Amino acid sequence: MSDFASRDPRDPAFWDERFARGFTPWDRGAVPADLQRFAATEAPLRTLIPGCGTAWELDYLCALGWEVDAIDFAPEAVAQARARHPRWAVRLHEADFFAWQPAAPLELIYERAFLCAMPRARWPEVVARWAALLPPGGQLAGFFFFDAAPKGPPFGADPAVLQALLQPHFRLEEDGPVADSIPVFAGKERWQRWRRR
Ligand SMILES: C[S@@+](CC[C@H](N)C(=O)[O-])C[C@H]1O[C@@H](n2cnc3c(N)ncnc32)[C@H](O)[C@@H]1O
Repeated sequence: MSDFASRDPRDPAFWDERFARGFTPWDRGAVPADLQRFAATEAPLRTLIPGCGTAWELDYLCALGWEVDAIDFAPEAVAQARARHPRWAVRLHEADFFAWQPAAPLELIYERAFLCAMPRARWPEVVARWAALLPPGGQLAGFFFFDAAPKGPPFGADPAVLQALLQPHFRLEEDGPVADSIPVFAGKERWQRWRRR
């Protein structure tokens, strides 16, 4: 599919069009094993899922008793997520990550295919927002995509660049390979857990 009208991933219309046409190669279609393993070791955490897409993780975490807010700025993504998780529709918000404010302090931000959806020039802003949203001790955990291809999305990270961006605000506590990646991320994503300083 090369005839999309929108070419700028900073624009909600870019994502909206792709969700509306069912072109979502990033969609895991299930809850990743590393998140399930992590959730099994933690007491319920007040969690934000930025750029949630169809939000497979929402239902899973809410069923465990976690208080989760999932946000996406593409109306079609939110509509599809609400249709998929009618029970948790009130936890899904059409909102821009850079403007959304939590009602109560967060304990976890879950990352999957959100940072890599952003042009690299926007990453310092994303990291600054993560840092502003999480109090000391809060966690940033999920899947980070590493790749050098200049074009995206997905925009991959250089490990040293990601480290340099995150280290002023976060301490890396866990870093491992991912066994159940979907093809678009296979061999290039790692499960990482960072702790807000
Ligand atoms: C590659 S998709 C990943 C969706 C989901 N996290 C997943 O793993 O399937 C990126 C998502 O981020 C959303 N997004 C991009 N920029 C955003 C922003 N500034 N605020 C909220 N959502 C955003 C897009 O609409 C899209 O649904």
